[in-house]
Amino acid sequence: MKKRVLFICLGNICRSPSAEAVFTGIVKEKRLSEEFEIDSAGTSGWHEGEPADRRMKSHAIKRGFKLTSLSRQINPDTDFDRFDFIIGMDDANLQVLKSMARNKDDLAKIYKMTDFSKEYTYDEVPDPYYGGDAGFELVLDLLEDACEGFLETVLEI
Ligand code: 4NP
Repeated sequence: MKKRVLFICLGNICRSPSAEAVFTGIVKEKRLSEEFEIDSAGTSGWHEGEPADRRMKSHAIKRGFKLTSLSRQINPDTDFDRFDFIIGMDDANLQVLKSMARNKDDLAKIYKMTDFSKEYTYDEVPDPYYGGDAGFELVLDLLEDACEGFLETVLEI
């Protein structure tokens, strides 16, 4: 059975579309694309229908990750049923996700991205929206590391 993974951040225009692209790239490189369904969404609908932030896109493409998804808000009534892993980027995301969970099974699907980090010790993927270039680079550093760790964890299950 395919493993279904939903990455979550606040706006779904910076961190979670990047996580979607990084994880998609990693599984493709390992010829595991058929094993996964991968998507992303925001806890807010502020940027509904918009493409990813152009700063995030330009940093990501330099590492070979093309951000193609359009922003959408999470829908608890469909997404908690459709996905096996719902992975938030920071503690605020986790708090919202937990408040949306309908039952214990939903709660058990919620994870934090940095819990899968291998090299880094950050406990959140910081929001880069109001910062400069370094913030976008840090997002990608953390995501490349944690997506590798997440894949290893999933393959062990
Ligand atoms: P994201 O970044 O949650 O990584 O997509 C943000 C995008 C937009 C806003 C905040 C964070 N905003 O305030 O509009």
